[in-house]
Amino acid sequence: MAAKVRSAYVCQNCGASFPQWLGQCSTCKEWNTLVEEVQDRVLEKRGVPNSVRDRKPKPIAIADISSDSGPRIPLGDRELDRVLGGGVVPGSLILMGGDPGIGKSTLMLQTALRANGLRTLYVSGEESEQQVKMRADRLNGENSTVDCFVLTETNTQNIFKQIDALQPGLVIIDSIQTLHTAALDASPGSVGQVRECTSELMRYAKTTNTPMVLIGHITKDGAIAGPKVLEHMVDCVLQFEGDRDHAYRLLRPLKNRFGSTNELGIYEMQGSGLAIVEDPSQVLLGDRGLRPSGVCVAATLEGMRPLLIEVQALVSTAVYGTPQRSATGFDLRRMNMLLAVLEKRCGFRLGQKDVFLNLAGGFRVEEPAIDLAVVVAALSSNADIPVPMDVCFAGEVGLTGEIRPVTRTEQRIAEAAKLGFARMFVPKGTKGLPTNSGIEIVPVSRVDEVLGHLFG
Ligand code: TYD
Ligand code: MG
Repeated sequence: MAAKVRSAYVCQNCGASFPQWLGQCSTCKEWNTLVEEVQDRVLEKRGVPNSVRDRKPKPIAIADISSDSGPRIPLGDRELDRVLGGGVVPGSLILMGGDPGIGKSTLMLQTALRANGLRTLYVSGEESEQQVKMRADRLNGENSTVDCFVLTETNTQNIFKQIDALQPGLVIIDSIQTLHTAALDASPGSVGQVRECTSELMRYAKTTNTPMVLIGHITKDGAIAGPKVLEHMVDCVLQFEGDRDHAYRLLRPLKNRFGSTNELGIYEMQGSGLAIVEDPSQVLLGDRGLRPSGVCVAATLEGMRPLLIEVQALVSTAVYGTPQRSATGFDLRRMNMLLAVLEKRCGFRLGQKDVFLNLAGGFRVEEPAIDLAVVVAALSSNADIPVPMDVCFAGEVGLTGEIRPVTRTEQRIAEAAKLGFARMFVPKGTKGLPTNSGIEIVPVSRVDEVLGHLFG
């Protein structure tokens, strides 16, 4: 057994350190702020190659630094590669966060199985080898000759030993919350352990140039692995999200030191793993037959990707005294604001109405360009007049009922044209509108104007 690395409990609020854990920091009097941290980094450095340990960095003229970002390793999953910025960078550390059960293990195991030509190591601290194998069989039916190894181990020092022996091209850790380092006494999953294990993995990845993916569960408050601390340590943070009752999953980069965070990957959870969705708008629009009232299509943008989404509204007279308002996939306060605009500026009496709003496919849209579609859907339901099914909308609605320009309108138009829409309402004053997009573009400046066009 190696000599113990010295550790101490450090208050995250004031920085005071204590030899043992206390519920309250006796210096700043804050509660539950003590986290175990490694104090002595010298002992830990054993095992790191001499070349690295003895490196003495000197300033280099910026002109002399090669701008070559180095090779990227494609992982064979088109969406994942794109989200990472064109494959994984050697020696990079990627944190993949998401709710439990959303499909993180599935995505990473299938990546490990399909990373063509790459030897992969899947370290599982949550499941046994048999469980991983059963899942692998599901994901990879016929192909059994892949160079993928499974290790069920949670001690970081042992994991490094195994990586040294195996020399994989990609390591997946499932999950960071199950790991523990002998340097600390705290239990796995605690802030101190998660942070220290991540920093050990980081150093290992950098010194051996092995790319690693850490899977982390998101806690209720939405922070990855409880402490947000991991986010600034790693090179990339990917968030895997979606509605568990729906099949669609989004892979979103929250941070990427080697690429853009405007990318988006879309998958569908199937019986045999996660399949890439080839044409997301097509899927989201569902049946384009006769539409009832209260339904219309918004041309939204997820990252850089145009996405046509069906917005459904149901407006009916409130049966009980207080009207109910509920929104799924859309901010409720924003919906209330839009309804107030309709009431005040356009003279619609919605005050005594129940309003329910829903976005198809379990998607969540934050961008304001969806406003116009929300407003149209609500009014269509209120008046019980269907919106023609070959029309779509993009525009932010302001407090005076004006329609304000949105970003990348051309891209939205192109997507709508591709899907065969005949007419699209866009904010007046949008610059650089295409002239021959094959779709009739109707510039509008006020909500009432749209209603005139649609409902006469
Ligand atoms: P999982 O990858 O275990 O989630 P996480 O690691 O994020 O906690 O995914 C679990 C869900 O995915 C589970 O409810 C079953 C479902 N699933 C499928 O629908 N198809 C599949 O091929 C697999 C492997 C899982
Ligand atoms: Mg899992």
